[in-house]
Amino acid sequence: MAYTEAQLAAMVRGDSVHRAVYTDPAIFDLEMQRIYGRAWVYVGHESQVPKTGDYHTTRLGDQDVLMVRASDGRVHVLYNRCPHKGAKVVADGDGCAGKFFRCPYHAWTFKLDGSHLGVPLKQGLEGTAYDPADPSFSMRRLPRVESYRGFVFASQSAQGQELEAFLGGVRSSIDNLCDRSPVGEVEVAGGIFRVMQRSNWKVFYENLHDTMHARVTHESSYAAARDEAKEIGEMPLELHIMDGNGEPYEFWEKLELRAYANGHGYMEGIFNPGAAERDPVSRAHFETLTAAYGETRAREILGMNRHNTVIYGSGSPHTVFQQFRVIRPIAVDRTMIEIQTFRCKGAPDGVFKRAMLYANVINSPSSNVMPDDIELYNRCQEGNATRGGDWVSMHRYHGTDRSDADGMVSQNGTSELPMRNQFHAWKTYMEAGAAPTGAAGTGDQACC
Ligand code: FES
Ligand SMILES: [Fe+2]
Repeated sequence: MAYTEAQLAAMVRGDSVHRAVYTDPAIFDLEMQRIYGRAWVYVGHESQVPKTGDYHTTRLGDQDVLMVRASDGRVHVLYNRCPHKGAKVVADGDGCAGKFFRCPYHAWTFKLDGSHLGVPLKQGLEGTAYDPADPSFSMRRLPRVESYRGFVFASQSAQGQELEAFLGGVRSSIDNLCDRSPVGEVEVAGGIFRVMQRSNWKVFYENLHDTMHARVTHESSYAAARDEAKEIGEMPLELHIMDGNGEPYEFWEKLELRAYANGHGYMEGIFNPGAAERDPVSRAHFETLTAAYGETRAREILGMNRHNTVIYGSGSPHTVFQQFRVIRPIAVDRTMIEIQTFRCKGAPDGVFKRAMLYANVINSPSSNVMPDDIELYNRCQEGNATRGGDWVSMHRYHGTDRSDADGMVSQNGTSELPMRNQFHAWKTYMEAGAAPTGAAGTGDQACC
């Protein structure tokens, strides 16, 4: 079905949203144009392409793209398409192209910035309109690419906010993740988990700040963690991070939820920083940061106890345990989650081991926690596909959240402010019509 802008706007009320936004393929297609065709989207981290010719393939909305390090050291993002017959130039995954890309179909070649290099048996194209200088014979670059502290974002639109303005208040989450390194840098390390979910991409964003689900959905894992702790007479970190989901409602009510423009936001941390400070890894980390930044700043960095951050359209960085859950919409009912783990350069080894532990215990497809959520995302998808009702509720604490200088803050940590904020951004994107697109070869298309 084709939707008018008024019909799209009517799908989001202040306190509820129409189920079609999760189930209608026509809306998914529009989201790919109007949200993913316009927003800054996280493509990957610079450390994934450390050397000339290194590339990392991914998806930006419904587009196959690749991030590549060119010979001048700059990072470009290209559509993964050969201009000859349209073949994907590189297979999915990471690799090194060497000095140039060579299409595996008929061997057209391209420089690492995507520009046309050559074709075999060139004489066959003489006298035709083939022109190596014509951008239509090159791999097309995305019009805007920027890196924020090593995190590379790209936009399919030539116009729009600068990246830093787009990120707004959640820049501080990326800052804190990097500042946990004594040299202010992180790198992707330890492999990547990928999980395909049978649900719409927006459900995952909503869940990230859904404090009301934790003690219900995750009962089996926190109950098992508590039993185990009782049996062994202590609560090691791997059990502690599962146990956190079992906190009573009063605990969640006291947490702070922040909402910013463009659907972004974060939620305060749920792990007890006082307890963490007493463990040897945190102590060694604190000493390393104190040597680099001084005691006051080290305390400030490690004291920022932030749980999930939402960068709407990109995913969720986690500062305390150095992860980035990258959210890739595949279809209206399919979403790929890619979990990257980061090493804080120069920090004690234990900090990275702890990040890996968190990835394994909470985020991995075989963890005790993530499958609980995935089951519920699937159920939301299946339930919303029925004719059992048309509206999805976001009423909790509606009308009570307060505005501050750069966004909104919840009065109560169980508020559904984050979902309302995400759908406010969704509506703004969707009402704004088709995204302006950049022409190939225009603007400053590289970063770093
Ligand atoms: S499709 Fe790439 S060279 Fe023919
Ligand atoms: Fe959960």
